[in-house]
Formats: sequence, C-alpha cells, structure tokens
Amino acid sequence: MKIALFASGTGSNVKNIIKHFEKNKNVEIAGVFSNKANAGALLHAIEAEIPTYVFSNQELNDVNQLFKSIENHDLDLIVLAGFLLKIPKLFISKFEGKIINLHPSLLPKFGGKGMYGAHVHRAVLSANELETGITIHYVNENYDEGAVIKQFKTALTESDNLESVQEKIKLLEKTYFPITIEELTNKL
Ligand code: GAR
Repeated sequence: MKIALFASGTGSNVKNIIKHFEKNKNVEIAGVFSNKANAGALLHAIEAEIPTYVFSNQELNDVNQLFKSIENHDLDLIVLAGFLLKIPKLFISKFEGKIINLHPSLLPKFGGKGMYGAHVHRAVLSANELETGITIHYVNENYDEGAVIKQFKTALTESDNLESVQEKIKLLEKTYFPITIEELTNKL
C-alpha cells in the first residue's frame, strides 16, 4: 500500500503519520508533497528519509508535470494533512475516491474557503459552540464538502481560548488521524 502526504504548514500531522507508519510495514509513505518550499512538513520527511516534492500553485492546476511524479508511485491514497490549496477538478478525477482531507472542525460547520487553522478556531469561539472537533473526509471539487469518513469531538467551556482550542484539536488529530488512515488502507 502506498500513500502520499500533501502539506503546506508546520507539519505536526505529517510527523505523526510518519511516526505511526514506521511500525506498519504494509504501508509505505511514498512522498511528502508541498506547495511551500519552507514547509516544516518537508523537514519531517527529510528526517525520515522520505522523498519530498515541491510544486507551485500553477503546477497543481496545470497538473501534467505533477501527475508524472505522482503516477510513477502508483498511489493507493493521497492524504491532505494541512494542505491549504484547492485541489483542481482534473486532479480529483484522476484520483477519484483516493484523496482524503483533515479539517479542524465538525463539518459542515466552519468549512469552506478561507477556513483553515486558527481561522476555524476563532470562528468556533465567536459562535460560542459547546463542542468542536475534527473531520476526516473525502475530497471533492468543493472545499470541505466531500463525504465524511469520521468525526471526533471535544467539549468546549467558557474558559476556552484560541490556544486551548488549538491544543484540543491537535490532540484529536494526533490520536485519531493516523489510525483512521490505517483503517482506510486496511479496507483498500
Ligand atoms: C491542522 O490543524 C489541520 O486540521 C488544518 O491545518 C492544520 C495543519 O497543522 N487543516 C485545515 O485547516 C484544512 N482546511 P500541521 O501543519 O501542524 O499538520
């Protein structure tokens, strides 16, 4: 089983996923792909001796070149782990049902364009939500609208702030994202 990770940010999820699959020899992380040359996610990959690929927004939309590096790997699953660009239609059609995303809220709440990272948590706090969580879902051509695979919740109290919500979400991501990916690969 071969998976690729797409990430734009610091890469705490990439780090957790790499660590998790070091113990599972049935799953190979074929590469970590990023649209940001300085993404922390790439450093975690380099440390683990996993190939890294950097591509521009234009290459993502113009896909031919990107397809080549991806198709060579014969991937079973593409995992968006903090990847912030929209995946173009053509790309999705090439990998139908094989791309999943992690979103830091209980979709359909607090999803859509511009809703990533701290923006999501601020919106959740402003709405005085009693709970938040993470959603792992298939990717379709609309931001955060693909079929939900799993959701995990955490309660909020009046004393929560941006920092505490971030910590709660990180804990859910660390606990559940790698095992959900593993469950999916077991079913493929
Ligand atoms: C994660 O919290 C992930 O849920 C979120 O970005 C963060 C990346 O953190 N993704 C989105 O907001 C997608 N809309 P990381 O770089 O430390 O893994």
